[in-house]
Amino acid sequence: MSDAIESILHEDRQFAPPAEFTANALISSEEHYQEMWQQAKDDPTTFWGDLATSELDWFQPFDSVMEGDMPETKWFQGGKINASYQCLDRHLTTWRKNKAAIVWEGEPGDTRTLTYQELHREVCKFANVLKQLGVETGDRVTLYMPMVPELTIAMLACARIGATHSIIFGGFSAEAIADRNNDAQAKVVVTADGGWRRGKEVPLKTNVDNSMEKSKSVQKVVVLRRTGGDVEMVPDRDYWWHDLMENASAECEAEQLDSEHPLFILYTSGSTGKPKGVLHTTAGYMLGAQMTSRWVFDYKDEDTYWCTADIGWITGHSYIVYGPLANGVTSVMYEGAPNWPDEGRFWELVEKHRVNIFYTAPTAIRAFIKWGDEWPQKYDLSSLRLLGTVGEPINPEAWMWYRKVIGGDRCPIVDTWWQTETGGIMLSPLPGVTATKPGSCTTPLPGVVPAIVTEDGEELDANQGGLLVMTQPWPHMLRTLYGDHDRFIETYFAKFNGKMYFAGDGARKDEDGFYWIMGRVDDVINVSGHRLSTMEVESALVSHELVAEAAVVGFPHELKGEGICCFVIPKGDIPADEAKETLRQHVRTQIGAIATPDQIRFTPALPKTRSGKIMRRLLRDIAAGRESTQDTTTLEDQSILEKLREG
Ligand code: WT7
Repeated sequence: MSDAIESILHEDRQFAPPAEFTANALISSEEHYQEMWQQAKDDPTTFWGDLATSELDWFQPFDSVMEGDMPETKWFQGGKINASYQCLDRHLTTWRKNKAAIVWEGEPGDTRTLTYQELHREVCKFANVLKQLGVETGDRVTLYMPMVPELTIAMLACARIGATHSIIFGGFSAEAIADRNNDAQAKVVVTADGGWRRGKEVPLKTNVDNSMEKSKSVQKVVVLRRTGGDVEMVPDRDYWWHDLMENASAECEAEQLDSEHPLFILYTSGSTGKPKGVLHTTAGYMLGAQMTSRWVFDYKDEDTYWCTADIGWITGHSYIVYGPLANGVTSVMYEGAPNWPDEGRFWELVEKHRVNIFYTAPTAIRAFIKWGDEWPQKYDLSSLRLLGTVGEPINPEAWMWYRKVIGGDRCPIVDTWWQTETGGIMLSPLPGVTATKPGSCTTPLPGVVPAIVTEDGEELDANQGGLLVMTQPWPHMLRTLYGDHDRFIETYFAKFNGKMYFAGDGARKDEDGFYWIMGRVDDVINVSGHRLSTMEVESALVSHELVAEAAVVGFPHELKGEGICCFVIPKGDIPADEAKETLRQHVRTQIGAIATPDQIRFTPALPKTRSGKIMRRLLRDIAAGRESTQDTTTLEDQSILEKLREG
């Protein structure tokens, strides 16, 4: 296949789940998994219909499970449901009423625990506040808040009255807020005076103020007092959260909403142009969040579960709030940075709250490795029984470190592949079943039917890299890009005539049917006619003891078409130039002559988005010696580009 992506990474290690883990797991045998997967593929109506009936609480049962072909599939039509009811009310008639729903820790060290009953009360009150401010079912509400319990309260309050929330990550600028307010035509913004990040106050309210001139649809702003910093309150527009809550009633019936009622919009950056407003609806999304989190994290009622993501990303929506709460789990929430006041903060929290399940991102894992083993080793991590990762391909060596240093060689690792658009985890080990391989997100969950295809949509053989697609609809998939259905079709479905969902990632499936993600297809480089995945070269680099992190991009090369340029963060100080040759040889012996780097550039840092993803498009410009025309507003540290250019 000429347009196949050649895979050059070899990984033979494999780790079966410990027998004890399997013995207690919800899904505990390969046969059970196969049976579920096959049924979901052959008869999705029965599979999802049965789950929706038994797992979701309905005010009115649905008439049909699925109607219409992908991408226009409608789920559970005729049913009436409410996501906040699903997360809260139904636990109040059980012993979970007084179970901790949220265990929260602020960056300065302040803590709060809210039981399901307490959370329910706050949600009802804030739902009444929103109503009082004129928010109606169908309106959009922007949430621009720190990682505090009130963010969860505001989300569930929106869900309770059928307002669609649009959460903007607290690291975004006034400009980004205005864009999103306008695109969603938000009526109310909920924010805070500020939030804590590495000991400094993030001026959330000021950013909102600076967005207001360009946010014409916004009528009211609610401000939570968090840091106590000075803020300006505009009369008849701005209200303190605590003033509004003081007299709010704690009685608020959950609105009976259609299955396809819009639950939230979440903006995700496109490679070009304005951000895409990914829209998720109620019943399908909730079923997906609830079931995938139970299958993958194998929740036990006594578990303390911690997902370190920010709620401003989809991971926080599905796996801090909707999935865990629907399952009645205790979910830890932490406001601040992992290295504040020192690099041991996460491990201190694991020890303090005796966390059992820990879910984080490769970018964080690589930072932990760089900071050194002494930090996790200071703390008792023996409560951990399961580890997870999400967001990027994890390099096998980082995976091994995670397993050994954090998991004590005892915890299964679930490497979960999914996207903002998929709503929930798609490919992942089942921790009691799957024998994992470092760097592979392994196999599809029940209801997920992926394939690896060529540009023409032809399925590729084992171990041939190609495009990752989904061939069947699933309940928690995005329904549209808000206000731009044409772009939705164009971005995800046009490539294969509407028949398959195109994820935008390159991947291969090995001889055991395990999937290996090779990164975004935009990141593939073509060296002398061989299409290589930059991620695999990065993994080879990171397996060398000198290297903490690496980003690889192509650049125009006279002979080869594209050459390989590697930006490398060393573990210690910037090494002498000989080290460059050492690394070139290392990649050569690890994966072969074709992947020998043309350039190695040492750098103290890499340009990253605020969610921790390396911005390879900027590196491509630097490698090619071009002026960049790219949008850099999502860059976390603007000064990095200058440093890289100088280097
Ligand atoms: C893209 C989606 C899903 C929550 C966080 C990111 C990459 C995600 C993995 C993984 C390899 C992964 C993909 C995907 N990605 N998880 N386990 N292994 N790559 O959400 O911002 O929508 O990004 O993240 O490239 O397409 P997102």
